Amino acid sequence: MPTPILELSGVGKSFRAADGSARPVLDNVDFTLHEGEIVALLGQSGSGKSTMLRILAGLIGADSGQVMYHGMPLHGAARGIRMVFQSFALFPWLTVQKNVELGLEAQGVAQAERAQRAEKVIDLIGLSGFEGALPRELSGGMRQRVGIARALVMEPEVLLMDEAFSALDVLTGERLREEILDLWESGKIPTKAILVVSHNIEEAVMMADRVLIFASNPGRVRAELPIALPRPRTVDANEVRQLIDEVYGLMTAGSARAGRSTSDKEAKLQLGDRLPEADSARIEGVLELLQEEPFHGSADLPKLAEETELTDRELLEVSIALALLGFASLAHGDIAITPLGQQFVAGDHTERQTIFAGQLLEHVPLVAYICHGLEQDRSGDLPKELFLRLLRFTLNPEEAESALRVAIEWGRYANLFEYTFHTGTIQLPRGEADE
Ligand SMILES: Nc1ncnc2c1ncn2[C@@H]1O[C@H](COP(=O)(O)OP(=O)(O)OP(=O)(O)O)[C@@H](O)[C@H]1O
Ligand SMILES: [Mg+2]
Repeated sequence: MPTPILELSGVGKSFRAADGSARPVLDNVDFTLHEGEIVALLGQSGSGKSTMLRILAGLIGADSGQVMYHGMPLHGAARGIRMVFQSFALFPWLTVQKNVELGLEAQGVAQAERAQRAEKVIDLIGLSGFEGALPRELSGGMRQRVGIARALVMEPEVLLMDEAFSALDVLTGERLREEILDLWESGKIPTKAILVVSHNIEEAVMMADRVLIFASNPGRVRAELPIALPRPRTVDANEVRQLIDEVYGLMTAGSARAGRSTSDKEAKLQLGDRLPEADSARIEGVLELLQEEPFHGSADLPKLAEETELTDRELLEVSIALALLGFASLAHGDIAITPLGQQFVAGDHTERQTIFAGQLLEHVPLVAYICHGLEQDRSGDLPKELFLRLLRFTLNPEEAESALRVAIEWGRYANLFEYTFHTGTIQLPRGEADE
């Protein structure tokens, strides 16, 4: 049996919503990180992955359940656990060397040892020669290397990486990921376990011994996929492609119902839910592509990702939008256009608008609510703030902003309402308002 290092059992976490009520973000999460393994955590935006990582790092506490580090309750940040964030949270006025040394300094490590350990890690991570540089003199990839060096210099037993590669361009991200895996395989770092949060399915499959898929609202582990392939892995290998397929399938499994069934009330979208980030142009584009050669109406999601040149996150968001609107169905990592989707693609702009409007009113409560509000209001003109305030009861400010942006874009496309940017107001389309 592998030795457990970090363990969550029955962990719950809520944040306070704008109306003062508690909104559960994590519910009854069980998770064990063992010695010798790399685990990847995938899940939709807002499903609570970062929150779980912060709890594991001891940066925030859980409301319920237990967090154990080597069998003892974890209270606050532990020396052996380090986190790497997506953004390059470096001190701009400190050199690379000083940025890397910072944590050691806080631990009271003597100057000479600090310098020596920092130099060694800077060398490992490929930044030799840049010790004296300031963050602004470095590229994004190099800055992220500094962020990783800063974690590694502490010789952490557990490394938690929260989308550590996602702010980088694809090639730089891949290279850095391979280098981390090299360090891991070669034993040049004392790290015993790594947990990575990612939106990149390929990255997860290339790195991890286990992939966990998080469900949203509230977040919990929905599925787990062991990956027994030896590293380094080849992206094009059949086994790898199959696993990527399988993960796509698991990722879309829960959301598939949202678009199809009307009987399953629970799967239906609620007024205060987030909306998938996909504008009408992307929805049209992906549907058109899906209908054409070589797909003829159905596609393997990874293949479609390649063809569309969208990131996994973008493609998943648009796929969920298509399912939600009844234009496509999702199953086992495949997407298939529905008869309504075909009708939509075949239609001219006005027909497409009509179909879109009907689906919005039926399946997207936020759009229906806005329309209803505009019809009730005598001026036919309402400030966007009104709806934002409502959304903030269930979503954080960015999510609320994003849900409303999507609803407005969809509503405008469907000619259900108009939006005036400089006043921030939503109106009924002109023809109707004048009647
Ligand atoms: N400090 C906080 N106060 C209130 N709500 C919070 C706080 N931190 C996170 N949340 C909420 O908890 C939910 C989960 O957030 P979290 O950042 O853990 O998600 P995530 O899975 O990491 O998302 P992403 O993939 O976008 O990074 C979100 O709905 C967010 O609004
Ligand atoms: Mg996150």
